[in-house]
Amino acid sequence: MTQATPHQRDLAGESWDPDQYLKFADHRLRPALDLMGRIPLERPQVIYDLGCGSGNVTRLLADRWPDASVIGMDNSPDMLQQAASMEAGDLSGNVSWEPGDLADWLPAQTPSIFFSNAVIQWVPDHHELVPRLWDMLPSGSCLAIQAPLSWDMRSHQIMRETLENGGYGGQPVGSTELRSAVGNRWVQDPDFYYDLLAPESDHLDVWTTEYQHVLTGDDAVLEWVTGTGLRPILNGLEDGDRESYLEEYRRRLNVEYPKRADGFTLYPFRRLFFVAVRR
Ligand SMILES: C[S@@+](CC[C@H](N)C(=O)[O-])C[C@H]1O[C@@H](n2cnc3c(N)ncnc32)[C@H](O)[C@@H]1O
Repeated sequence: MTQATPHQRDLAGESWDPDQYLKFADHRLRPALDLMGRIPLERPQVIYDLGCGSGNVTRLLADRWPDASVIGMDNSPDMLQQAASMEAGDLSGNVSWEPGDLADWLPAQTPSIFFSNAVIQWVPDHHELVPRLWDMLPSGSCLAIQAPLSWDMRSHQIMRETLENGGYGGQPVGSTELRSAVGNRWVQDPDFYYDLLAPESDHLDVWTTEYQHVLTGDDAVLEWVTGTGLRPILNGLEDGDRESYLEEYRRRLNVEYPKRADGFTLYPFRRLFFVAVRR
């Protein structure tokens, strides 16, 4: 696998802000539940939640399969710390946490399920990542993945456009390296994953869903992307550029996603899912 460069790792994998991410926990939970609901295994023994974040979904996996050992893995110390601290109030003996980077991680136990919700959009080279995970799974085990198909969404197009021409007098903002890093599309179309998994699958379910998130408050879409897709740009810009970029991006987003008559903002968001059971 091609390792993420230090720059990519800085842009994508580090300095997650659990509080910002959890602001939209209810909206973000639904795709995870939709994914979990399609896993056909009845008695998995070892479940890995890859990129578990603050562990909300990891605990739901443990609730659904109480006899399984469930391990939440993530490369963010902040997220893992949050996961472990939330567990303290809600002790489930079969959940544990471990640090790891999906780019080179190996499971310590034989997995029954690799579950990964909203993570692989941060990991490059899916033509290598997905077969590598798939090859770690024994016959009868399951790979279940959800990732946003955000590349073509207006919020993300405007995010890139504002880097290209949102500076003073229509100038680019930030470094060429940053613009090129955020110009890489990491999540592919559904047929890409189908073709990778179909030859060794007993069961393969690939689908997309467009959710209509109803958001509250001012600058609602900006708030949403600040916890996820905008992070590489916020991390990659110098202080002065960051402020002017945010001002212009906020302005453009509010034109594209106006508040409805009732004061809420509708945010259509498309996601890709696949659930494969290994032959
Ligand atoms: C959008 S959050 C999703 C968290 C959780 N899966 C959920 O559904 O709430 C993405 C998570 O992926 C983690 N992550 C990003 N890149 C990673 C990598 N290369 N290896 C492991 N975890 C990674 C981040 O630290 C973050 O916790």
